[in-house]
Amino acid sequence: MPHVDLTLPHHRYRIHIEPGLLSRLGELVRSVAPHKKAAVLVDANIAATLGARAKASLAAAGYDTLLHAIDAGEQHKNLDTVRQMYDVLIDAKLERKSPVIALGGGVMGDSVGFAAATYLRGVPFIQCPTTLLAMVDASVGGKVGVNVPRGKNLIGAFYQPNLVAIDIDSLDSLPPRELRCGLAECVKHGVIRDAARFNWLQRVVPAVLRGDKPTLVELVQWNVQIKANVVMADEKETGERAHLNFGHTFAHAIEATTGYGDGGYYHGEAVALGMVAATRLAIDRGLCPPTLLSQLVKLLGDIGLPTHAADLPPTPRLMEAMRLDKKVASGKLRLVLPRQLGEVVIDDTSSDEAIAAAWQTLRQPQSVTVPA
Ligand SMILES: NC(=O)c1ccc[n+]([C@@H]2O[C@H](COP(=O)([O-])OP(=O)(O)OC[C@H]3O[C@@H](n4cnc5c(N)ncnc54)[C@H](O)[C@@H]3O)[C@@H](O)[C@H]2O)c1
Ligand SMILES: [Zn+2]
Repeated sequence: MPHVDLTLPHHRYRIHIEPGLLSRLGELVRSVAPHKKAAVLVDANIAATLGARAKASLAAAGYDTLLHAIDAGEQHKNLDTVRQMYDVLIDAKLERKSPVIALGGGVMGDSVGFAAATYLRGVPFIQCPTTLLAMVDASVGGKVGVNVPRGKNLIGAFYQPNLVAIDIDSLDSLPPRELRCGLAECVKHGVIRDAARFNWLQRVVPAVLRGDKPTLVELVQWNVQIKANVVMADEKETGERAHLNFGHTFAHAIEATTGYGDGGYYHGEAVALGMVAATRLAIDRGLCPPTLLSQLVKLLGDIGLPTHAADLPPTPRLMEAMRLDKKVASGKLRLVLPRQLGEVVIDDTSSDEAIAAAWQTLRQPQSVTVPA
């Protein structure tokens, strides 16, 4: 069965990837967290379908299983929701060794993970991601947390799961726009680490978009492997884990100024635009060959992700949002820039003028020649 192992100095877990895996969830959870009780906290949009399937499997494996639905969406990734989760767990008398399972996209993984990290100072935590984005990115690597009114993901912890169970069949009900957003992170993984897989993805886009299962398994497995490798090398983001932010400083500025998907751009769409801007900047600065932009624009376009946006807020507003987003307070924007397909650098030497010029080029279609 396809899987990826993630090994850290103090912890080790397996990420299983398979169509139909939810029906075996109970036995998988039992192998890492045997106990009388288990709780599944599930995104309300999939509670009746995937939630019921997960519960039946856990019950068959002997768990006294609580299934509780949580309102879906980024606006619910907050401390009120976490408090609601604590109440549910306390009411059901979940104990120190009872597994808590997050079933849903990245919103569920992050918020349930934070509840699991803090309830009774930490209980066994299982990730069951059901969006492509959560499968290839959010569910792997142990970052959990919630938003507060003053910013995204400002409250959180590093709390690794005991198991990640990826049922590829979950993607059957995922809206196509969400699937495309997950693919933006896959493109990112190709650019930062793997030229061969970038080219493979270009070839298999039609199969992915029509939901071909073997292709989806292969896609998820290589992306999980890349994310796991980065996390194994730098769990707490003191170095190369920052490469995963390729395109994201630009993306966060778009999201912050256009309202986090609320009628505007979804995260993956903002990341697509952000990767184009970062690549344009790298080319303008002579750091990378122009062919990379052509390849990137072609792949994103075939997936159905945006590569330019006429309706972006004014550049000074975007620049300001970028400065607010920056994690280091050294006064310089640190950007992840491509050197070539499969290789990026962290750079803080771009001038404001060069960054502003990259924003400007996002406003019209990219003038690139597509390689035959
Ligand atoms: N922890 C990390 O390392 C990490 C990394 C990347 C992103 N994230 C976080 O992940 C979140 C975004 O995750 P997301 O894109 O999965 O969003 P999400 O959890 O909001 O899910 C997107 C939408 O899809 C629906 N949905 C989920 N699974 C479905 C299915 N199988 N069928 C039909 N509908 C389904 C949800 O109800 C929701 O409406 C953000 O909060 C982001 O901060 C975390
Ligand atoms: Zn992202």
